[in-house]
Amino acid sequence: MQREELMAETYPVLQSAESHALIDKAKYEKWYKESVENPDKFWGKHGKRIEWFKPYTKVKNTSFTGKVSIKWFEDGQTNVSYNCIDRHLENHADRVAIIWEGDDPSLDRKITYRELHEHVCRFANVLKKYGVKKGDRVTIYMPMVPEAAYAMLACTRIGAVHSVVFGGFSPDALGGRIVDCESTFVITCDEGLRGGKSVPLKANVDKAIDIAARHHVHVKSVLVVRRTGTDVGWASGRDFWYHDEAGTVAADCPPEPMNAEDPLFILYTSGSTGKPKGVLHTTGGYLVYVSMTHQYVFDYHDGDIYWCTADVGWVTGHSYIVYGPLANRATTLMFEGVPNYPDQGRFWDVIDKHKVDIFYTAPTAIRALMGAGDDFVKRSSRSSLRLLGSVGEPINPEAWEWYYNVVGDARCPIVDTWWQTETGGHMIAPLPGATDLKPGAATTPFFGVKPQLVDNEGKVLEGAADGNLVIADSWPGQMRTVYGDHERFIQTYFSTYKGKYFTGDGCRRDEDGYYWITGRVDDVLNVSGHRLGTAEVESALVSHSLVSEAAVVGFPHSIKGQGIYCYVTLMAGHEGTDTLRQELVKHVRAEIGPIASPDKIQFTPGLPKTRSGKIMRRILRKIAEDDFGALGDTSTLADPAVVDDLIANRQNKE
Ligand code: WT7
Repeated sequence: MQREELMAETYPVLQSAESHALIDKAKYEKWYKESVENPDKFWGKHGKRIEWFKPYTKVKNTSFTGKVSIKWFEDGQTNVSYNCIDRHLENHADRVAIIWEGDDPSLDRKITYRELHEHVCRFANVLKKYGVKKGDRVTIYMPMVPEAAYAMLACTRIGAVHSVVFGGFSPDALGGRIVDCESTFVITCDEGLRGGKSVPLKANVDKAIDIAARHHVHVKSVLVVRRTGTDVGWASGRDFWYHDEAGTVAADCPPEPMNAEDPLFILYTSGSTGKPKGVLHTTGGYLVYVSMTHQYVFDYHDGDIYWCTADVGWVTGHSYIVYGPLANRATTLMFEGVPNYPDQGRFWDVIDKHKVDIFYTAPTAIRALMGAGDDFVKRSSRSSLRLLGSVGEPINPEAWEWYYNVVGDARCPIVDTWWQTETGGHMIAPLPGATDLKPGAATTPFFGVKPQLVDNEGKVLEGAADGNLVIADSWPGQMRTVYGDHERFIQTYFSTYKGKYFTGDGCRRDEDGYYWITGRVDDVLNVSGHRLGTAEVESALVSHSLVSEAAVVGFPHSIKGQGIYCYVTLMAGHEGTDTLRQELVKHVRAEIGPIASPDKIQFTPGLPKTRSGKIMRRILRKIAEDDFGALGDTSTLADPAVVDDLIANRQNKE
């Protein structure tokens, strides 16, 4: 089938799912209507899905204009770790909370809710012992080990605000994040282990601490979890082994009562300008929203084994490995490794090994595994699977079909979930049992979500249309501010289209009211589902002594979704060689991390600029796409000859 035909295909709600799905079509219509017409009533009811120490009397108090203020359940008191652990103990203490599957297929561990309680309490008491208090920021730089979840939950237990930094980020990136939230406590491992290779986490932390100190933020304590047992550098008085500390503290720690709007965590994410923003989420609304979306979007039934392949360093790991599933008393699988180790059948083997019911991964992984051939899939039975999920970038219909037919044996609905670090949880996604599927469409909004399409002038488009995706009103899981910079929050999200939350995504709505995300409309790249600002990569490039100027754009990449294409102008007298290319790739990896590795570097004597000096990115994008026949209007260029050179030396020639 052609791409267009695939996209026009409709997969009706599956019988098997429908017969026991939590939400059917009629219920979706009814609930959705109430959720947008009377959010106070709707969320007033559903807010009770978590336990409150002090019940809320107010539900929604939000404004997208003026100073922008977002408050949900504002006078209620609760605690996230209590909701994710303690409340399940009375009747389900022996249920497995976390299945840990190691990088090495012979390693796994099962942690029950009772055990989780003790681990988290001890962890929390160790934090307290070293002086961590409510409101303090704790940086977590960990691989995918259960202790990463213990650390996060321990913070929430005592009211500390965690900032998890993905273990693939460089010491520089880690240092910058420590500085931004003035965090003086760091939790890490000696090393991480992925695909049989070790990641020097503790050594990176040591470097990051030196970088932070140069910016006058002094880390006082580093708590180190032993994973590989390798020798690591040690600053005595500052560094502590977790295994030495855990036995010295009590096995119980009372959960701190937290106000619904107390900060829960900070998570840094890239934007179109400047350094990454500290997205701040708060306590009550976030937990209500992630637990509710986890239950209904994944049609989660009590006792299901659920596996999300993300890393806890991203929001997907926060909301759908840790908080949503544990709040719902789920068994959540945490995978330390990578999809292609020991070979490309690993995901499917793990599904059989642990009898996974619900599997949630990213299109980039699906495309890579699709390329490995069907045999790796077929050697597993996957008979436990009931539902598949996708997240991170638009899924191309070809990958969707393969996921559906080969991985899911045409039995399992696919929930393509559109959302963002900023939204806390799923925003547009099918509900199994209620939503007919179309390959490549995120389909329809979740309860309480009011998507709109607007043109560049902000005019609201009706019916079938193509435009910029905005959300017209608040939902409980929404970010509350940019940490330490509320003005930037207002500028970034609420000033482009006044009074509306701007997502940064382009989107098409079809005749059936289905939403199809078309990708970012700002200078943000999505590389293998990871978000990167072009400005970040540019500033990494120009920090190299031989680079005078750089411009970075995305181009379509068959596995990564988008690849990174860099135009680089060198300092006078220097020549662009392959050796220098390699050096620049290394440099960017060291500045940001391997996820930011440039795919293509084109050396150029100049960049296409307008007479006022603005780089014309539209032209650079076209050339990177090898689509320079349609450059559009180039008459405003200061020096049109630049374009001929760019075309002649393009790096993506067909
Ligand atoms: C951006 C957010 C949300 C968790 C992972 C990424 C893109 C995300 C989809 C999807 C099309 C998607 C958007 C969005 N995106 N999911 N199902 N279909 N695009 O979180 O790093 O905050 O990135 O990822 O462009 O704006 P993030």
